[in-house]
Amino acid sequence: MEEGAARFSEQRSAEVVAASFASADERLRRVLTSFVHHLHAFVKDVELAEREWELAIDFLTRTGQRSDDRRQEFILLSDVLGVSMLVETINHRTGGRSTESTVLGPFHMVASPPRALGDTIALEGKGTPCLVSGRVTGADGEPVPGARLDVWQANADGFYDVQQPGVQSELNLRGLFTADADGGYWFRSIVPRYYPIPDDGPVGELLAATGRHPYRPAHLHFIVSAPGYRPVTTHVFVADSPYLDSDAVFGVKDSLIREVPEVDDPDRAAAAGLPNPFRSLTFDPVLLREAAAD
Ligand SMILES: [Fe+2]
Repeated sequence: MEEGAARFSEQRSAEVVAASFASADERLRRVLTSFVHHLHAFVKDVELAEREWELAIDFLTRTGQRSDDRRQEFILLSDVLGVSMLVETINHRTGGRSTESTVLGPFHMVASPPRALGDTIALEGKGTPCLVSGRVTGADGEPVPGARLDVWQANADGFYDVQQPGVQSELNLRGLFTADADGGYWFRSIVPRYYPIPDDGPVGELLAATGRHPYRPAHLHFIVSAPGYRPVTTHVFVADSPYLDSDAVFGVKDSLIREVPEVDDPDRAAAAGLPNPFRSLTFDPVLLREAAAD
């Protein structure tokens, strides 16, 4: 190698830095090499000004300072840049064979209380009554008896229980259900509302600076699992919600949108233990067998 070949220069900057990782283990070397190449290419592409570099350092510093055990501003940043959804999608490719996944989100911070089929998760009488029901099957259509469905959602004002301690009852709008012998499940709730992600920190500044709103369309969170099957973490989106086409975290997939029609049927309402009329959300999760998932 000629003299000075390893010296830093504008042209060779990424190669020179990447070469410094030569003794890292294989995966770390691959990740860091790619990262440095993309990062340097980005700096060169926009010809980053020193003032902009300082602004970026300040932004990232404040993003860290805004994070604690109840708030994770870096995850929020990853969310609004579409990185969380990209990682989720890459790691849970379904090949169209099973229910698509989407982000877990930051509000699954408490364990959902076990409830019986037919129970209500709406502990406060507020909101439009809704029957949520469906059947869990495998990719070949076989029922998945005893599948577990962990569900949580925002209330009619667009807040999760953990965001309003002392205002909402603890564990409001959360439940852990066990499907019946045919994979069937049903429970009572209310229609969730769209809501804003926390926008009073650096991520909110980024949204404001780019003219973006902080809202997520109305959805119900599900984690569906069963022995021998790969669990699915997903949402069901309400078809008539605002923001379906501009989710602040890019979580919407067409296959996860459901109509939630009004049902005017006194007998069905009475059987479900709901006032008439009520709305009905049907969601049939499809799980992949562990072996098929690999
Ligand atoms: Fe959510």
